[in-house]
Amino acid sequence: MASQFFARKPLALLLEEMAGEHRLRRILGPVTLTSLGVGAIVGAGIFVTTGAIARQTSGPALMLSYVAAGLVCVFAALCYAEFASMVPVAGSAYTYAYATLGEVFAWIIGWDLVLEYAVGSAVVANGWSGYFQKVLNTLGVTIPTEVSGPVIKYDPSTGGFLSTGSFINLPAVAVVVLVTIVLVVGIKESASFNAIMVGVKVAAVLFVIGVGIFYINTDNWSPFAPYGMTGLSFFGHTVAGQADVGGKPLGMLAGAALAFFAYIGFDSVSTHSEEAKNPQRDVPIGIIASLLICTVLYIAVVAVLTGMVPYNQLDINAPVSDAFDKVGLTWAQFMISLGGVTGITSVLLVMLLSQPRVLLAMARDGLLPPSFFGAVHEKFRTPWKSTILTGGFVCMLTAFLPIDILLELVNIGTLLAFVIVCAAVMIMRKTHPDAERPFRAPFVPLVPILGILTCLILMFSLPPHNWWRLAVWLGIGFVIYFAYGRRHSVMRHYLAREIGKHGVSPAGSLATETESTPEGPPE
Ligand code: ALA
Repeated sequence: MASQFFARKPLALLLEEMAGEHRLRRILGPVTLTSLGVGAIVGAGIFVTTGAIARQTSGPALMLSYVAAGLVCVFAALCYAEFASMVPVAGSAYTYAYATLGEVFAWIIGWDLVLEYAVGSAVVANGWSGYFQKVLNTLGVTIPTEVSGPVIKYDPSTGGFLSTGSFINLPAVAVVVLVTIVLVVGIKESASFNAIMVGVKVAAVLFVIGVGIFYINTDNWSPFAPYGMTGLSFFGHTVAGQADVGGKPLGMLAGAALAFFAYIGFDSVSTHSEEAKNPQRDVPIGIIASLLICTVLYIAVVAVLTGMVPYNQLDINAPVSDAFDKVGLTWAQFMISLGGVTGITSVLLVMLLSQPRVLLAMARDGLLPPSFFGAVHEKFRTPWKSTILTGGFVCMLTAFLPIDILLELVNIGTLLAFVIVCAAVMIMRKTHPDAERPFRAPFVPLVPILGILTCLILMFSLPPHNWWRLAVWLGIGFVIYFAYGRRHSVMRHYLAREIGKHGVSPAGSLATETESTPEGPPE
């Protein structure tokens, strides 16, 4: 039993699997991968959540929050890039964990990635709805309150939740349905659709910086950190800085834990490894280039935004376009809203694209039913069944829940995934010192250790109840693992055969490049 938990998937097997029959098409080059990265990164985190974070958590020090969150991501990105170059198959952090830490960790991370990609999609769809309604408003159209947003919202003055008067966030549900249809039809079409949207949103962001810079009033940057420079709590006990009445940490660092959402997405480049023409070279380029481009853009946008409007007057739903309205540039408001809608759509596209690919990788290992999650459409060559299932799940979340609850859950889940990836890089250097690493993270083990520590700091800067939500989510995952995955695991059957043949378990030495490899999952 224990040997199965910690059985690692041989690297040779991962690479061999890439030659199989039902593989995804290899059509993505470095520019497309970087574009998919920027497509996954720049979205609701800059166009939507900046307003609420500046107002309620960090003030103008939000600029530094973005610097801090960006730095955390650089450490993780270097580790992701090393793995993506070594193990260039679909599945991202899930696959890396299976090759290094063993099956049970792989399951934890695969299940945890649902928080990043599926729950993240729900946040993004929610943000999309806000900007879309802003566009409609400027055209004189208003969506009825009953179908315009989530059912509840957070009230910082009481630390509780209020009813919004809405029953469903209909625009958010509609966009998820549309994007799901596009994704079922195919990656090639999705990639060109994405390229256009990325162009539009980068233009919108450059416009915000280039024009907004002339409207900065430096007085608005003072006080710079009205909530302080920290914000850290340990399971409900404030360790550094302030907290609101609901126990939510406040300050620059607490802002970084929320702003972190804006950087999520660079890692999704690695889930496309299987579709990359030259994954060993192009995937690390895609990850690092997209993260660097976005970091520079974010810091500039936030400096402009908090310089244009006093932090406590920033809009919550569409702060970027609203800031231009507030300084009298009403004509710019419509353009920016349109750029926001487009940009957020491309994030949704990439996130909804990534989730089924992680599920596909898990199904190939027998941890999820392969007949459903492993099904690749005959004509479109996409994992269509799990794409539709993901779309349905995201619709349910985004229809009713507010952006803050969803965003905090995504952040804690993604930070946990980053911690595991950073740890796995160190382990892999020990267990596979000679494996080919076309990209090597610099200063190992310093970089992964800094990655782990800084991710943990951000996890403790999130409102404390998120730890319990994360624990419940992982608990549900364990129930599924023990009820299905553990029994159907390809590795379990392989181990049983090896024990039958040799009388001993080969676990622990499984992850060598020369051993025989397991067969496919039992249907
Ligand atoms: N980074 C993505 C966004 O900001 C998730 O929308």
